[in-house]
Amino acid sequence: MPIFSFKDHEALGKVASVDTTNVIVDVENVEQLKRLQVNHLAVLQSSRPGQHLIGLITQVTRKRGIEEIAIDGIIDQASELNLCRIALIGTMLDRDGKKENVFRRTLESVPEIDANCFSLEGENLTGFMRTLSNVSDDGNSLTLGKYTLDEHAVAYLNGNKFFQRHAFIGGSTGSGKSWTTAKIIEQMSGLSTANALVFDLHGEYSPLVGGGIQHFKIAGPADVDTKRTIDDGVLHLPYWLLSYEALVSMFVDRSDQNAPNQAMIMAREINQAKRKYLEDKGQHEVLKNFTVDSPVPFDLNFLMGKLNEINVEMVPGSRGDKQGDFFGKLARMISRLENKIYDRRLGFMFNGGGDVLDFDWLEKFTNAVLGSTGENGKAGIKIIDFSEVPSDVLPLIVSLVARVTFSVQQWTPSELRHPIALLCDEAHLYMPQRTMADSADDISLDIFERIAKEGRKYGVSLVVISQRPSEVNKTMLSQCSNFVSMRLTNAEDQSVIKRLLPDSLGGFSDILPTLDTGEALVVGDASLLPSRIRIDEPENKPNSGTVNFWDEWQNPVKERRLSIAVENWRKQNIQ
Ligand SMILES: Nc1ncnc2c1ncn2[C@@H]1O[C@H](COP(=O)(O)OP(=O)(O)OP(=O)(O)O)[C@@H](O)[C@H]1O
Ligand SMILES: [Mg+2]
Repeated sequence: MPIFSFKDHEALGKVASVDTTNVIVDVENVEQLKRLQVNHLAVLQSSRPGQHLIGLITQVTRKRGIEEIAIDGIIDQASELNLCRIALIGTMLDRDGKKENVFRRTLESVPEIDANCFSLEGENLTGFMRTLSNVSDDGNSLTLGKYTLDEHAVAYLNGNKFFQRHAFIGGSTGSGKSWTTAKIIEQMSGLSTANALVFDLHGEYSPLVGGGIQHFKIAGPADVDTKRTIDDGVLHLPYWLLSYEALVSMFVDRSDQNAPNQAMIMAREINQAKRKYLEDKGQHEVLKNFTVDSPVPFDLNFLMGKLNEINVEMVPGSRGDKQGDFFGKLARMISRLENKIYDRRLGFMFNGGGDVLDFDWLEKFTNAVLGSTGENGKAGIKIIDFSEVPSDVLPLIVSLVARVTFSVQQWTPSELRHPIALLCDEAHLYMPQRTMADSADDISLDIFERIAKEGRKYGVSLVVISQRPSEVNKTMLSQCSNFVSMRLTNAEDQSVIKRLLPDSLGGFSDILPTLDTGEALVVGDASLLPSRIRIDEPENKPNSGTVNFWDEWQNPVKERRLSIAVENWRKQNIQ
């Protein structure tokens, strides 16, 4: 049974002009015109039988008493001109092979001049939305919520397409991004071998529990003191995992006149330290091909010893010993290194305990962090809490985890590969625009841009989440093919989203500032329709830290709160 049953006399009007994706309809029925709403759907008769074209109303115009007006090239002498502009978004087929009522996001034909146009409302709308829901309800779809147009129709997203070509979730603070992310995580956790990492920068996602989800945190000072490890859900990210560039950006001050020498010595000596490690462990196979960037541990004390030696080295000269080439030139780098090594907040890098220098530590780490449900008896969705990582090294550390993930996927033979998604909350902090970037950001960006461009081939997907689309790196955004935009109040941020929408739907973004909390504009190849969706509440809600100031200011203040805070700050540890 075809879902649409339109009678000619119910028509809104007839097609007056057509271009590739837009249609202008001359509305004859003024009563109908009054009821038309922008962003609602319309149906057009197609030139092919058994097909209807579906469009989104983007403009409604009523002009009276004007002799001649030109809208998009149509000149009309009538004294009344009622027009409605429609962006075509897809085709409804009465049947496609054996299947009845199939909706496609392609335009299989274009409407002809004088074709009838109908407003999609009432039972026809319900029928259409149901079809959308039924068609994609094969048990494996990603459901985030219901369509605003029809609150009974479940909005399904194509889970394959959502992750294949990366997704972006944007919205002002408090618009509901974290809840939407929690909803996605909840849906993923129902899949038997789902695999994902969630970069949780504020420890917001700790309430998300259940089968399929496990929690890690990057070791804070207290975890280092208590020697907690992976088995306790605490991750150390040893310095030797950092790429050479990342190490240089951490230890070498670019403005130092000796910076090039320092970087050069660093490369040479790290190479030596890694070589020594491999020799000591008898890893002859690895020795043949390793580079300064290979994930091979090295002894930091050995490196420091060498650097100190070089810094005070005396060499024989014509009149007795003289200062070596690098005498005194490494002093600042050495003191920077020492400062970092003794920084309690960086304990997760430099104070990882005994086993981070074991040759098989990396395997243990990847097994815990990149393993999926069923593989290691643990859950596949790993929420990683970065809240105790100091902000100046945050881009390096987040991107380090991404780099390990990408490298492992790249080095997995394709027939053994299992896809993994990286959910990057607060992405503007570590994928900023190049113009605002410093060197640590550059390294982070290089990694994420690479994943954005090549990740699809290796089964690595990015879900970029940010409250400031305009501060997120443009290359990253342009690689995303799915957009879940929540309320955006800032004009710059709105325009970023607008630019990413297809031209014919540019006007759709006008609703961005008026979206309700938890409501999203979903556009992209995963979504059947570019649509407004009310996101369902996740079962376990993230700690969004929404503070009710007015109420709180009427409650008693907790005892000793300030002295506890000061003490914690000094100890670098929340008691
Ligand atoms: N789908 C929803 N349905 C109902 N209420 C919601 C929904 N999503 C969010 N909210 C409400 O909005 C609040 C803020 O949501 P959320 O923490 O997801 O915002 P956010 O966009 O992540 O903000 P920030 O950028 O500051 O992290 C929640 O505490 C909740 O009260
Ligand atoms: Mg949030």
